[in-house]
Amino acid sequence: MGSNQKIRLGILFGGRSGEHEVSLTSAASVIDALDPEIFEISVIGITKKGRIADVSELRTMLPPPLLSRVHFNPALEANNSGMRLTSGLPDKSVDSSKLPQIIFPLLHGPYGEDGTIQGLLEIAGLPYIGCGVLASAVGMDKDIMKRLFLQAQLPVAPFKTVLVRNLERQMESLKKSAAEEFGYPMFSKPANLGSSVGICKIRSEKEFETALRYSAQFDRKILIEKGIDGRELECAVLGNDEPMASVIGEVFSANEFYDYEAKYLNPASRLEIPAKIDDQTSQEIRDLALKSFRAIDGSCLARIDFFLERDTKRVWINEINTMPGFTPISMYTKLWAASGIPFEDLVRRLVMLGEERFREKNEQIISVG
Ligand SMILES: Nc1ncnc2c1ncn2[C@@H]1O[C@H](COP(=O)(O)OP(=O)(O)O)[C@@H](O)[C@H]1O
Ligand SMILES: [Mg+2]
Repeated sequence: MGSNQKIRLGILFGGRSGEHEVSLTSAASVIDALDPEIFEISVIGITKKGRIADVSELRTMLPPPLLSRVHFNPALEANNSGMRLTSGLPDKSVDSSKLPQIIFPLLHGPYGEDGTIQGLLEIAGLPYIGCGVLASAVGMDKDIMKRLFLQAQLPVAPFKTVLVRNLERQMESLKKSAAEEFGYPMFSKPANLGSSVGICKIRSEKEFETALRYSAQFDRKILIEKGIDGRELECAVLGNDEPMASVIGEVFSANEFYDYEAKYLNPASRLEIPAKIDDQTSQEIRDLALKSFRAIDGSCLARIDFFLERDTKRVWINEINTMPGFTPISMYTKLWAASGIPFEDLVRRLVMLGEERFREKNEQIISVG
């Protein structure tokens, strides 16, 4: 296969969020897993401060053995002002046959998964993999996400949202109403984060205030939720307007809940695919996953996370992740592998879906007259 037929994938990684390191790992394993005969990979790093990484910074962001497998985007090497140069606009300093044909933003959390980078890519006129601006933003904000799910009549566990500025004033009444409506345990969490950062399990009344104040450090808006004693089940979705749902996987957390340590550090956490659940529950979850994806108007991919309540056997939607962890050992990619789509095929399909979305958008009439 000639080099001009290769898929030119631009991996955008790093980023300003607390999930910077997670993104580095995702990027490294994607680069490692893709066949260099098929994929020509260029990398665009974002530093923790939010700048486009220069070449020397990029060298610290990837494991040395992978450096020889990737291009440092010539446009970005030449000019650190970044994205604009990769837009495909006529620019003599850039050989457009070297530019990525599509960007894979392997960024998690704020400024990556929340629509901001997607907006930048839209303005730059670059096709990208993943949900668009709106779905990304909505998927990041647990408050708005849950309200859309409720509007679509999907099962969302009871929750309340509080603006941090009103927290102290409302503390006593919140404590009282949450105890009455939810009972203990409850969870408090920042509205816009991921990787369990800022999340507390509140076991009793005496932990209530400390927990809320802790979560409040991470956002201007926090959620208080009824604690669900359930199994944690996840379903992967792939597609644009006709999405497909994968088999179901289960997470077994090493800790009492799936906190940061359990997710990324504790080897005792594990995934089971397919989850040992009956066919009916599996079908119900797949159906809810597709409905959730549609409720936020998702595209390309998302992972939807559920609780299967132990007592009642009810299924609750916990959240949608519009840029789920994407290494070959992540739940998202393993769910598709178990559903018959191995890693490289999955990336190819995502490229096609991103390009399809881009074409659809560019065929729209955006001005009249
Ligand atoms: N309402 C809840 N009931 C029970 N466990 C919860 C609840 N909310 C969060 N958790 C636990 O905390 C973890 C992280 O919460 P989640 O809302 O998924 O945030 P993140 O976006 O950081 O993954 C969940 O995987 C689960 O283990
Ligand atoms: Mg989660």
